Amino acid sequence: MSDRLKIALTKGRLQDQSVALFERMGLDCTPVKDPGRRLIHQIANYPLDVVLAKAPDVITYVQHGVCDLGVVGKDTILEKGGAFYEVLDLGFGRCRFALATRWGSDFYGTYKTRRIASKYPEVTRAFFERKGMDVEIIRIEGSVELAPILGLADAIVDIVETGATLRENGLEPIEDVAQVSARLIVNTASMKLHKAQILDWIGRCQQALAGETEREKGG
Ligand code: PRP
Repeated sequence: MSDRLKIALTKGRLQDQSVALFERMGLDCTPVKDPGRRLIHQIANYPLDVVLAKAPDVITYVQHGVCDLGVVGKDTILEKGGAFYEVLDLGFGRCRFALATRWGSDFYGTYKTRRIASKYPEVTRAFFERKGMDVEIIRIEGSVELAPILGLADAIVDIVETGATLRENGLEPIEDVAQVSARLIVNTASMKLHKAQILDWIGRCQQALAGETEREKGG
């Protein structure tokens, strides 16, 4: 059995902030910062291999145990679900899911079944189920903001970070659906098989995050 841990990192938005966190933990991340076309990278000064993957694949790899750890957004966790431990809120990649409509439209002022467009049908379904409201959900793959503009949907459920995309397209958030940030996830079997190593890793993450909070406070 290899004594190196494998961690799957979400490529793109969360990648740089994950690397910044690992560097605060003292890891030499040189190969991950200049990955070229390589997808797996060995950390030289810690027994860790880093796998770069798309967010839903991070969950798949961790759930199947081919990666022990993963860094993935809560948005993907809420949409895809799965069996793994969610052990730490890493604090970066903060945004929210919001319900948004065309500016000034009265979403709740009708009895007809509303149509909601989203890249996140499961998050949308769960949100309206909690409200006890029957809606028709239309899955969109790209810029979901187009759906209400084109008249395909009454509203959207989407990620809002700065709010600029909504504003620039004449839409407004009318309700928060869920808060999102990056999470550290762990395979359930790895947690038992590599307990000491994984607890060491989680401890180092927590220390680096606590140091960050102190710096933010000006400590
Ligand atoms: C997300 C989301 C919005 C945008 C919101 O898309 O779907 O379109 O960000 O950000 P803002 O509130 O700061 O304007 P993203 O850029 O992640 O691209 P995606 O379509 O690949 O999800």
